[in-house]
Amino acid sequence: MYQIAPSILSANFAKLGEEVDNVLASGADIVHFDVMDNHYVPNLTIGPLVCDTLRAHGVTAPIDVHLMVKPVDRIIPDFAKAGATYITFHPEASEHVDRTIGLIKESGCKAGLVFNPATPLDILEYMLPKLDMVLLMSVNPGFGGQKFIPYTLDKARKVRAMIDAGGYNCRLEIDGGVGPANIREVAAAGVDTFVAGSAIFGARKATDKHQFDTVLAAMRAELAKV
Ligand code: DX5
Ligand code: ZN
Repeated sequence: MYQIAPSILSANFAKLGEEVDNVLASGADIVHFDVMDNHYVPNLTIGPLVCDTLRAHGVTAPIDVHLMVKPVDRIIPDFAKAGATYITFHPEASEHVDRTIGLIKESGCKAGLVFNPATPLDILEYMLPKLDMVLLMSVNPGFGGQKFIPYTLDKARKVRAMIDAGGYNCRLEIDGGVGPANIREVAAAGVDTFVAGSAIFGARKATDKHQFDTVLAAMRAELAKV
């Protein structure tokens, strides 16, 4: 039930297809795809073209598109066509959150809401039944390699309790500063889906296909102790 989602933000973009193939070969479950617009967040990354290219390259694993863009609605159908599995967005970036969730689902994708560290969870009161994923940011969005913000664990426990109380089929994902050293306590707080960028791509142990085996095995070993 635990799923590990390497963030390709920390991959080598000059050979992205190979990087994704290798990380999946080492046992990753989901490809986390960070979309930044230099407006909602102070950085600029990749769009639907790159998602489409990964599908054309042969990637069949779920692609978890994390939209850090404002506005969000215009780009959703493009990502659906490009092969996104999940599309998650920040409620602050949409004028009409319910409509945006509807648009993602009508486009044939799974929908998720993303909460910045300081964003309260109030909106889940009515939105949780509609969601396939809740993504808690454990760093401020925009960059890889930042330090995990500990109070996010408290938010995770709260969302886990809400998901379980309602019996919803909704994944609880965390994003930012996660690695072998803290994945166990994050899982113990109720998280089931773990984004990790720098911890995975910064830990290659070789130059071959199995360069991510060690770090992914270390993360799985920690999860086995929960
Ligand atoms: C930050 C991104 C993250 C980032 C995580 O805005 O949403 O997905 O890549 O990177 P690490 O795991 O290095 O904190
Ligand atoms: Zn992300």
